[in-house]
Amino acid sequence: MEKFSRYPLSVSLLHWLLAVALTGNLVIGWLLDDREELVILHKSIGIAILGLVLIRLANRVRVRGRVPESVNRAGTPAHFVETAVHRLFYALMLAIPLIGWMKTNAAGHAASCFGLFSLPALIPKNRELSHLLGQLHSLTAYGLAALIGLHVAGVLAHRVFKARNILPRMLPLPLRRPDRQAHAPE
Ligand code: HEM
Ligand code: HEM
Repeated sequence: MEKFSRYPLSVSLLHWLLAVALTGNLVIGWLLDDREELVILHKSIGIAILGLVLIRLANRVRVRGRVPESVNRAGTPAHFVETAVHRLFYALMLAIPLIGWMKTNAAGHAASCFGLFSLPALIPKNRELSHLLGQLHSLTAYGLAALIGLHVAGVLAHRVFKARNILPRMLPLPLRRPDRQAHAPE
């Protein structure tokens, strides 16, 4: 079987684009404070994120045979945590904007993306549900922030405790070394 030392360019481009968009929208979310222009911007970026995550998932399935092996040995606790974190990332990247969309509908508004189009209403207006979905949106957003911390700590832990820099595996540099390695990863 062929060994790959890095993620395909499409995976890394989508990884970093979404890392910036998600972190940015987390910060905007915490700064909202009922400011209309910020709320419009936050919802628009959030809807764009939802679209990008769907593209990312479809692309990840497309290239599934061309990704590098995990840096953690199968069956180890580190491998279990890594898999759980990556799956939870995908679940939250889908759930958070979906809940935001539903919260907006429950508050009686349409979820609009940069004034270009509006998403269909998923649920009718309902004040109580709107409040509940707002809390769930906030809670899941905190979960995402915590997961980002854990994820970055994992990358750093490999550097510090295993003297292995895994960052290049996800770097989208066009000039990076070839993807295929003659030798197996250590
Ligand atoms: C919102 C922020 C982020 C999310 C949602 C995210 C998500 C993910 C996911 C799901 C993977 C698994 C690969 C895949 O299937 O797509 C991954 C891999 C990776 N991420 Fe992130 N990531 C984020 C931020 C970061 C940051 C800030 C760093 C910098 C330290 C980073 C470094 C990496 C690296 C190096 C890998 C490859 C791990 C390996 O060697 O297998 N990520 N990320
Ligand atoms: C992945 C993308 C998103 C992230 C990371 C995110 C994150 C956040 C955060 C951190 C807050 C502040 C919560 C708090 O005050 O504790 C927030 C609030 C809010 N978000 Fe999002 N959001 C996203 C997508 C969306 C989308 C797509 C919509 C609607 C179309 C939306 C609608 C809202 C609304 C209406 C609030 C105010 C909630 C309230 O005050 O009850 N969000 N979001």
